[in-house]
Amino acid sequence: MPSLFSEAQLGRIPLRNRIVMAPMTRSRAGRQGEPTDLMVEYYRQRASAGLIISEGIYPSENGKGYCRTPGLVSADHVAGWRRIVDAVHNAGGTMVAQLMHCGRIAHCDNKAAGAETVAPSAIPARGEMFTDTAGMQPFSPPRALLTEEIPEVIHEFARATELAYDAGFDGVELHCTSGYLPAQFLSTGTNERKDEYGGSLAGRIRFPVEVLQAMSSIDGADRVGFRICPGNPFNDLTDADPKETFASFLGAVRDLGLAYCHVIRRHDVALDNVALAREAFGDALIVNDSYAFAEASEIVDKAEAVAVSFARAFLANPDLVERFEKGAELNRLNPKTMYTEGPEGYVDYPTLEETRG
Ligand SMILES: Cc1cc2nc3c(=O)[nH]c(=O)nc-3n(C[C@H](O)[C@H](O)[C@H](O)COP(=O)(O)O)c2cc1C
Repeated sequence: MPSLFSEAQLGRIPLRNRIVMAPMTRSRAGRQGEPTDLMVEYYRQRASAGLIISEGIYPSENGKGYCRTPGLVSADHVAGWRRIVDAVHNAGGTMVAQLMHCGRIAHCDNKAAGAETVAPSAIPARGEMFTDTAGMQPFSPPRALLTEEIPEVIHEFARATELAYDAGFDGVELHCTSGYLPAQFLSTGTNERKDEYGGSLAGRIRFPVEVLQAMSSIDGADRVGFRICPGNPFNDLTDADPKETFASFLGAVRDLGLAYCHVIRRHDVALDNVALAREAFGDALIVNDSYAFAEASEIVDKAEAVAVSFARAFLANPDLVERFEKGAELNRLNPKTMYTEGPEGYVDYPTLEETRG
């Protein structure tokens, strides 16, 4: 019988246990999106996870939305990520890169000169985001992508996948929720296109399906996963019928041979997202959101998910796996340092051994 501590395989991605580190933007990259020495240390500390999913990484300069987030666009980015992945591998871990194109969830000050904010439709998101230049600012209004530009945007994800493999990553994950570009195409509130990338359910799902196919074309679908959260209202996202949208999307990608579906449940959404994913996609699931150890053990023991991912618990506990094994207490998260610069609240959470001196 599987347990949280037993090995697993998702497509071609090996997991040494089923306690996955969920993707977390931490805003410690350089101004040009280059991974830093601090990031090497942060990920190395957490390498005992069954699998580390990186923070959201932009696949093109237009895809960058937030300040101090890392990219997979240039040779410098690849060299920086290679140092991180090598450190994780040397410590016996496995790591995938999460590709996150922010689309309209962006501010122009957070981007390289000349980069644009693009989206399926020219509908600005309501809300604000942090900039290093002027603090909190309204989201920049997006320009609607022309039909003939969309193949190039899809190609950006393929190129970033290739660069991720050059850097040594074991796989890639497409961020398909939280109001970012693939979710903007999927949802009725953000996609008012009249061409083949909108206008109907089949049109709305086309972009993320074609992105996953493009990512799979680099070295097979079995190194490619994706993350969803049907009904997620985060970043001003609305959809008339998220159950229908996601059942259709999952049905379209079910037979591609992808490594996994990473599904987030939400207590404020009436849908049972885990059941929906199991029914429409299959058994290769990583589940997430607010799992405590006992509940996570139960869902894996019952084989209702292959693995469970933890975000905030891994942020505050580099040795989360050992703490679960020993039934030890967890460090508390300091939310004030989640996105600040520097080592504080990033690489200084103590291990059990350090706490006990
Ligand atoms: C600081 C922070 C940054 C996050 N950044 C990302 C991200 O880059 N990509 C993503 O898919 N989810 C991101 N999330 C969401 C988490 O992966 C996760 O879904 C959420 O925290 C719930 O899981 P938990 O209860 O284990 O913390 C972030 C969460 C936190 C706390």
